[in-house]
Amino acid sequence: MTRSSAPGKVYLFGEHAVVYGEPAVPCAIERRARVGVRRRDDGKLRVHAEDLSLDGFTVEYGGSADEQPDVDVSESLVTAAMGYVDGAIEQVRDVTGEKTVGFDVTIESDIPLGAGLGSSAAVVVAAIDAATRELGVELEPTEIAERAFRTEYEVQDGQASRADTFCSATGGAVRVEGDDCGSIEAPDLPLVIGFDGGAGDTGQLVAGVRALREEYPFAEDTVAAIGDVVRNGEEALEAGDLEEVGRLMNFNHGLLSALGVSSRSLDSMVWGARDAGAYGAKLTGAGGGGCIVALDPTDETETALSYTPGCEETFRAELAETGVERLE
Ligand code: MEV
Repeated sequence: MTRSSAPGKVYLFGEHAVVYGEPAVPCAIERRARVGVRRRDDGKLRVHAEDLSLDGFTVEYGGSADEQPDVDVSESLVTAAMGYVDGAIEQVRDVTGEKTVGFDVTIESDIPLGAGLGSSAAVVVAAIDAATRELGVELEPTEIAERAFRTEYEVQDGQASRADTFCSATGGAVRVEGDDCGSIEAPDLPLVIGFDGGAGDTGQLVAGVRALREEYPFAEDTVAAIGDVVRNGEEALEAGDLEEVGRLMNFNHGLLSALGVSSRSLDSMVWGARDAGAYGAKLTGAGGGGCIVALDPTDETETALSYTPGCEETFRAELAETGVERLE
């Protein structure tokens, strides 16, 4: 079995607006998805997944676009995860030229699904790396990022940026603006995550922002204002001014809230963190439910969040310096 892992991420700034060409700054964190693959010559794709905030599940199907996996469709998150795995394997078939190859795929992840920590990008990146290596092909992290982006783009109906997949493939803090992706220096960031135990549907949330943007010119201005916040945020990161980074994270959360992608539990955790003395806090990722990220100069936020209504889990997030990596 060939195995790879890839990290999840938080957005310091810029989710949603990045879909419209504004810059964003995600940062990889030490929560990883691990994917193991073994070649099958019968063309089938068999996926076993555990620890995806769901009970373990196993599905087997032909792997063709019109053949549906045998899973309970009410488990929409599982179905969505399967779409990403299927898309990743299609990219592997394409890049290796092995058009009919199948795989046994095992996924373990400590990144909750659909919670804003880049679970799907981490699974796709690790799956592409492991499956190509299983076929004797080594891809550079930037090529893996490109292939993983195409997977997300297709699964999310053409509504995806390169941010999640690039960050997961390369690790560290990155800046993404349109097709332009690169690593940036970031100071030590005392990041705390609050998780409400829920999830948001990225495709639906992105579509909701698109609809709002088409209906109201001021929603378009809100998206552009997020771009301005990100540019200021980059300067604050470069200057190592954490208080300013926090203020701008607060601003960013307010604008995301105006775009309708926050929720009661996310707002409650954001306020819980601020009240505890965090420099700033915001939702991370698509929103709708899931996680917030707080910049915590003290050690109070984690404890305060654990008593905040709506918060189910809280933990410190270390920056992941390494992106996709092979596992023995
Ligand atoms: C989702 O993690 C981030 C969004 O900006 C969508 C994307 O960038 O593809 C909401």
